[in-house]
Amino acid sequence: MKNLLEVKNLRTHFYTEDGIIPAVDGVDFSLKPGQTLGIVGESGCGKSITSMSVMRLIPNPPGKIVDGQITFDDRNLLTLSEAEMRKIRGNDIAMIFQEPMTSLNPVFTIGSQIMEAIMLHQKLDKKAAREKCIEMLNLVGIPRAAEIVDDYPHQFSGGMRQRVMIAMALSCNPKLLIADEPTTALDVTIQAQILELMKELKEKLNTAIMLITHDLGVVAEMADYIIVMYAGRVVEEANVYDLFEAPKHPYTVGLLNSKPNLQRTADRLEVIPGSVPNPLAIPPGCAFNPRCPHVMDICREEMPPLESIGGERKVRCWLHTKKEGAK
Ligand SMILES: Nc1ncnc2c1ncn2[C@@H]1O[C@H](COP(=O)(O)OP(=O)(O)O)[C@@H](O)[C@H]1O
Ligand SMILES: [Mg+2]
Repeated sequence: MKNLLEVKNLRTHFYTEDGIIPAVDGVDFSLKPGQTLGIVGESGCGKSITSMSVMRLIPNPPGKIVDGQITFDDRNLLTLSEAEMRKIRGNDIAMIFQEPMTSLNPVFTIGSQIMEAIMLHQKLDKKAAREKCIEMLNLVGIPRAAEIVDDYPHQFSGGMRQRVMIAMALSCNPKLLIADEPTTALDVTIQAQILELMKELKEKLNTAIMLITHDLGVVAEMADYIIVMYAGRVVEEANVYDLFEAPKHPYTVGLLNSKPNLQRTADRLEVIPGSVPNPLAIPPGCAFNPRCPHVMDICREEMPPLESIGGERKVRCWLHTKKEGAK
């Protein structure tokens, strides 16, 4: 099957007074129709900037996509005009964020906001858009959809607002849904319901999903394929089974160990020591080396390549890559 999205050597940098922040620094990945790709990593690793680059929503200045290719549906997004890009956003690619309140306008009703999106992207009149809107609210499991379409965002709970966002995002049948920490602000029960809903919708509508989260439990539940990011780069990629069965990069191992689970009590929770590097002072060699329990001399000197280790697995780590000429 052909790729729906192909990202090659994406580099997105921020030019600040203090220096250049290489937020995304040579990222590659691809996604097929109907597939769910999980992007994981601690806060500040470049997950959101990766997705905002795909949407071409990087604030410029200070940010800029300085290199790479983003091919979506056989079109190079980086060469499209802003007007062409606007057609793709919301139509072919939709996005949902962590905090739905910031993307919903408090002074307009839920219905008018969803209808506006529908009328903008599909050539429907007001009446048809209202029907489509109610249909979408029903689809995402909002009770009494026909009544609440005239309610305002503040009349909804966080979980209901996130459902509204999903309804809005999916109302134009996008081929790709980018979900950036879609359930992080919600309590666990609601989180589980929203994830279940996304799964159902994906099966019904065959939407590809780029799911960004710092929560490995969420990707385990949802993703087919996972990329792990650290300091603006991909450090490991694998399908969901291989990654959880046998993580290769010490960073991935650390993330998995710090994931709370029911068998483990909180006081035995391992957390990766240290913290993500200052983006203005990423250490030379492997960016993870100051925190790595297996660090070797070479790790401080030279950045390992992202190398295939069989099947669809790749890892960026000197433990798994032989350096030419080294013993
Ligand atoms: N507007 C901005 N100006 C400067 N640096 C930014 C800006 N937005 C993001 N960054 C930097 O880019 C890096 C990656 O951020 P982000 O993609 O948001 O991380 P996360 O993985 O948590 O989503 C961080 O180091 C962050 O400080
Ligand atoms: Mg983020």
